[in-house]
Amino acid sequence: MDPTLEKIYHLSPQDIQQAEKHIMVGGGTPGPILFRGKGIRIEDIHGKSYIDCTSQSWAMYLGFANPEINRIVCQHLENISHIHQGFHSLPRLYLAKKLTDIAPKGIDRVSFAVGGGLAVEAAMKIALRNRPGAKCFITLWDAYHGSTFTASSMSWISTKANGKYTGQQHFIGKLEATVRVPNPYCYRCFFKQSPDTCDLACAEMLRETIIRGITGPAAGFILEPIQASAGQIPVPKRYLQRVREICDEFEVPLIFDEIQTYCRIGEWFAAQYYGVTPDIIAMGKGLGAGFPIAAILINKNMTGFGPHVEELHTFANNSVSQVAAAKQIDIIKRDDLLGNTRRMGKYFLRGLQDLQQEFPQMGDIRAVGLHIGVEYVKDPITRESDVQAAKDIRQEGLKQGVIFGLGGAHRNVLKIKPPLIIKQPEADEVLDKLKKSMRAVLG
Ligand SMILES: Cc1ncc(COP(=O)(O)O)c(C=O)c1O
Repeated sequence: MDPTLEKIYHLSPQDIQQAEKHIMVGGGTPGPILFRGKGIRIEDIHGKSYIDCTSQSWAMYLGFANPEINRIVCQHLENISHIHQGFHSLPRLYLAKKLTDIAPKGIDRVSFAVGGGLAVEAAMKIALRNRPGAKCFITLWDAYHGSTFTASSMSWISTKANGKYTGQQHFIGKLEATVRVPNPYCYRCFFKQSPDTCDLACAEMLRETIIRGITGPAAGFILEPIQASAGQIPVPKRYLQRVREICDEFEVPLIFDEIQTYCRIGEWFAAQYYGVTPDIIAMGKGLGAGFPIAAILINKNMTGFGPHVEELHTFANNSVSQVAAAKQIDIIKRDDLLGNTRRMGKYFLRGLQDLQQEFPQMGDIRAVGLHIGVEYVKDPITRESDVQAAKDIRQEGLKQGVIFGLGGAHRNVLKIKPPLIIKQPEADEVLDKLKKSMRAVLG
């Protein structure tokens, strides 16, 4: 083994304690120190194994140490890794064509970025480029679009939704160009409607905001088709169709933040699931099979970036990530992982609904593909959020050997978002460990 890697792998508990003082961790739910993984399982430094229902930031679609991804990356690394953005490279050309081939009809160009937040900002730039004079973006309550300086002002972390302002309060305020409109959070509808009485008041709020709520023309409306950080809230189809009509009426660019929905919902893109095509798509996370890469895709009618430093990042042309992303698309197609995602999503949903009979504290279960959340409440009638239960169940899950995600604007949602390769026996194991965790916490 390489001597440096040897030293890294053998840090003592004292070394770790000492080194911890030198690192700033700006966010994220804490967990064990992870060492290695295989498939859907990951091991910590003490050798304890977990099924990872977070796919590490929801990004490891093929699980850990996928041999085909490792092979293509190692083979490619023999030739080159980092390439300046101004130079074309074969992997970038190949991946751009591949992504536009699987993208919704009418989407024909790609620009690569390093991470999701930057992709969102690139999407905003394209929207501005196509809307002269516009200064104001519209986004949804409880949205999350990243923690870069600009993207954070588009996100719920810059509101008081959580009862307090997050650390982003130190950075926001420079950009006055974001207005948020009510989200279609049907379980907690702000307009006190139920799906059968709903007249899409939240969508009409968007329309009214475009007309009366902002200064100047709207630069764009950005939304996650499934609000992930907010607590796994799928936007209803009807809502999205109405939003498309409203955006068309006022020529407002519609931007889908598909950083979490790409493939995870059992289709390449949410546009295909919903039958609604946006003007711009931002993607990231799972795109690179665990390697850092993000992108925006834009409609053929839009003006794209020009070469005069409109969008330039040192590492935006990472050819290692690009070959991994291309290989992953081939594997997803060959192994029908989108089909597996749909089937396993339905399987989880049924299993969770069965558990709900025993545990009514599972107030709402929301699943589209392997984009799954369980919202815990103290009482299914009052729907009062149970933050502690969700937190304790996640903690108990760790003891049982499963890493669940935790979050939501009300901090009471347990997230189940495993790699897309998960199989039925592994899903059964997750459901069984969840049951044990709930028995331990809820009685
Ligand atoms: C929907 C969504 N958009 C944007 C981002 C930001 O991506 P990144 O963390 O890669 O900057 C995230 C990250 O969690 C996300 O979930």
